[in-house]
Amino acid sequence: MRMLATLAALAAAAPAAAQDAKAGEKAFVQCKACHSVVAGQNRIGPSLAGVAGRRIASVPGFNYSAALKKRTGTWTDANMNAWLTRPSA
Ligand code: HEC
Repeated sequence: MRMLATLAALAAAAPAAAQDAKAGEKAFVQCKACHSVVAGQNRIGPSLAGVAGRRIASVPGFNYSAALKKRTGTWTDANMNAWLTRPSA
């Protein structure tokens, strides 16, 4: 479950959250309104199934913003944390 590792990392980055996978799941509550972890299931945001290590803006059928489409590379814990903290950067 790579997603849980990512969520745990996100939770660790958020000072208010505790450090275990449960906290990761709790942190994901904030994301669930717009994201599913089921592959191919896009909501307001693209499916986050297997997002760690995935190419940025690569979910088929999701209409990404021009800004995100311009980005190259894959999602890592580090660049995702940075982006989630400051999406405009
Ligand atoms: C209000 C709705 C909303 C919430 C809440 C939300 N997102 Fe998103 N997310 C989006 C949208 C819309 C995009 C597409 C952005 C773009 O195209 O620029 C996106 C894109 C992403 C991407 C890039 C995916 C890709 O395929 O490149 C990641 C990673 C992501 N979100 C993670 C999260 C996480 C983790 C949370 C919770 C901490 C979260 N999002 C909360 C709407 C949301």
